[in-house]
Amino acid sequence: MRLCRHALAVSVLATVGLAQHPARGLIYSATADFRHDSIPTARDALISRGTSLNVQFDATEDATRFTDAVLAQYDVVVFLMNTGEVLDANGKNALQKYLDLGGNFVAIHSASDCLRNTTFYGREVGAFFDYHPEIQNAIVDVIDATHPSTSMLPAQWSVRDEMYNFKSDPRSVGAVVVLSANESSYTDPGPRNFDQGTPHPTAWYQEHGAGVDAGGTAGRSFYTSLGHLNETWQDNLFLGHVSGGISWVLQSNTTRAFNASAQVGSSGTSSSSHSPSGSAGSTSAPSTTSAPSEASHSVVAAAGIGASLLAALMALASLWI
Ligand SMILES: *[C@@H]1O[C@H](CO)[C@@H](O)[C@H](O)[C@H]1NC(C)=O
Ligand SMILES: *[C@@H]1O[C@H](CO)[C@@H](O)[C@H](O)[C@H]1NC(C)=O
Ligand SMILES: *[C@@H]1O[C@H](CO)[C@@H](O)[C@H](O)[C@H]1NC(C)=O
Ligand SMILES: *[C@@H]1O[C@H](CO)[C@@H](O)[C@H](O)[C@H]1NC(C)=O
Ligand SMILES: *[C@@H]1O[C@H](CO)[C@@H](O)[C@H](O)[C@H]1NC(C)=O
Repeated sequence: MRLCRHALAVSVLATVGLAQHPARGLIYSATADFRHDSIPTARDALISRGTSLNVQFDATEDATRFTDAVLAQYDVVVFLMNTGEVLDANGKNALQKYLDLGGNFVAIHSASDCLRNTTFYGREVGAFFDYHPEIQNAIVDVIDATHPSTSMLPAQWSVRDEMYNFKSDPRSVGAVVVLSANESSYTDPGPRNFDQGTPHPTAWYQEHGAGVDAGGTAGRSFYTSLGHLNETWQDNLFLGHVSGGISWVLQSNTTRAFNASAQVGSSGTSSSSHSPSGSAGSTSAPSTTSAPSEASHSVVAAAGIGASLLAALMALASLWI
């Protein structure tokens, strides 16, 4: 039964023509300044979501993991609620190299408030954080409902979170803003000594992450400013938003999953046996033993266009067989 279902899934996947190995992500949640107490909740939620997205996450707060060799194994590096100077010069160089080689990038909440003097990092995020008014209920408007990070959201999404303001307009480096804080739905006394553009940017994506050096191959980037509270990381809509952003980023054709000449990303032949040394740091890493699964990288690859079709077919197959 399992075999049959697997065979059908494989044939569906083969038809779609996509890679089948699990993606790998590195979650980095080191802080050198303010530390959100929701970091463990957020990290665990991402790791747990990774299972259904078929992304195998390693989590670390160890800056020495930022080397060319370690980063090259990952399809995506996720900066999770970092603050302050969380990488030294070696780590920054390795991150820059990863991005230049087509590496994908995701940043969440205060990850726009770290490495503030590092221009390439700010460009890769899209903009640096400036300030936020106190946490409160607010409405976030979906201004691009076609993106996988927003397709599950109501047009006017009620959240309880910090409505971030940014030092610059992420659109100025090529980002597409998908969520916008509805400024008439909450109180922000200011002052604002910057131009973040309109409508107010709250989450966005970059097809070509702007942190890349001239001559590099830019991978994808996604940023959301939401995610302050534990409760947020227990909310299915928010988790859908973040998962959608990660799924979209992983569909970049700059990494090994979709590009035979790519130099970064998990490789089909060795991904399931990798167990990077020292992956845990001070936080626990998830198990890196992953059973072969019909819910493969290609499910991620097809998200947004074919995922629901694929899911329907596979559900149908499991009923039949
Ligand atoms: C959030 O969850 C963490 C455990 O994951 C806990 O230590 C922390 O106290 C929680 N924060 C609040 C405000 O409840
Ligand atoms: C960042 O730049 C500012 C202004 O030049 C400087 O005062 C600050 O010390 C720098 N911070 C770091 C962490 O390098
Ligand atoms: C913004 O919020 C206000 C007040 O809640 C609401 O009346 C308005 O329709 C919202 N605007 C948009 C564009 O969603
Ligand atoms: C890679 O992705 C970009 C952006 O979506 C697209 O323009 C380009 O055609 C893709 N290239 C290949 C070979 O799929
Ligand atoms: C595939 O990877 C190579 C090597 O990084 C890169 O030069 C090329 O642009 C990538 N192809 C696409 C379509 O992104």
